[in-house]
Amino acid sequence: MSDKLTGKVALVTGGARGIGAAIVRRLHADGAAVAITDVLAEQGQALAASLGDRAAFFLHDVTDEAAWTDTITAVTRAFGGLHILVNNAGIFIPGAIADARAIDNERQFRVNQLGVLLGMKHGQGPIRAAGGGSIVNISSIAGQLGFPGTAGYVGTKWAVRGMTKTAALELAPFRIRVNSVHPGFIDTPMLDALTPEATQSGIDGTPLKRIGKPEDIAAAVAFLVGPDAEFITGSELTVDGGWIL
Ligand SMILES: NC(=O)c1ccc[n+]([C@@H]2O[C@H](COP(=O)([O-])OP(=O)(O)OC[C@H]3O[C@@H](n4cnc5c(N)ncnc54)[C@H](O)[C@@H]3O)[C@@H](O)[C@H]2O)c1
Repeated sequence: MSDKLTGKVALVTGGARGIGAAIVRRLHADGAAVAITDVLAEQGQALAASLGDRAAFFLHDVTDEAAWTDTITAVTRAFGGLHILVNNAGIFIPGAIADARAIDNERQFRVNQLGVLLGMKHGQGPIRAAGGGSIVNISSIAGQLGFPGTAGYVGTKWAVRGMTKTAALELAPFRIRVNSVHPGFIDTPMLDALTPEATQSGIDGTPLKRIGKPEDIAAAVAFLVGPDAEFITGSELTVDGGWIL
């Protein structure tokens, strides 16, 4: 699509399918070498194979700190460094507060909050060593307002938004920009957790009157990690067809 990311190395967590896979394809099309990490080996390997040069899959659970160390080492060895980290891996377990289960809350927090925190902890070293770069954390419109029936998930996505602003302040001295992206209703397997009626009402409530495509989110990420966003850090970019307005 462009050569704006030529010479850059990107790591995308949860990159095997859905929004993550679209981000992988877009950053690769813009010239980056892309490390796809996920717990879904078959899909991740197939995506890497379909891209050919400048793409590789790494089996990686974002909740496992030792795995972060191993993965970052493997990626920097394979591609010679790291400039871009996209913390995209996430899970969604809906449920009313009255039915909340500690085990579901902990699972969501481990992937959606801890996974992002560990990514920023372990990703920042090689990005600093490369002279700076960019981190994008995928939050949600559920990180910008309340959503009945999803309090546990909402808690994790507000956490991502707050951690992003904190990281932007901590990492600015090292020329690392950190921003969050807030997707609305996007057509991926994650929406299988909603009833068809809930998904339809999400589309009906979207002023632009369509469901979002993973590519809509990938375009926002490509902008934020690229040279046109050099003065943007700590910002939150909502990509939702106007849903939250
Ligand atoms: N689809 C939407 O409507 C929507 C809206 C707002 C935000 N989001 C966010 O976008 C991101 C991507 O979601 P998606 O819609 O593509 O969903 P998805 O379920 O299609 O993809 C999520 C990916 O994360 C991976 N993953 C899950 N747990 C992991 C772990 N422990 N370690 C590594 N990888 C793991 C999954 O295997 C999968 O490939 C998530 O953070 C999600 O919360 C999605």
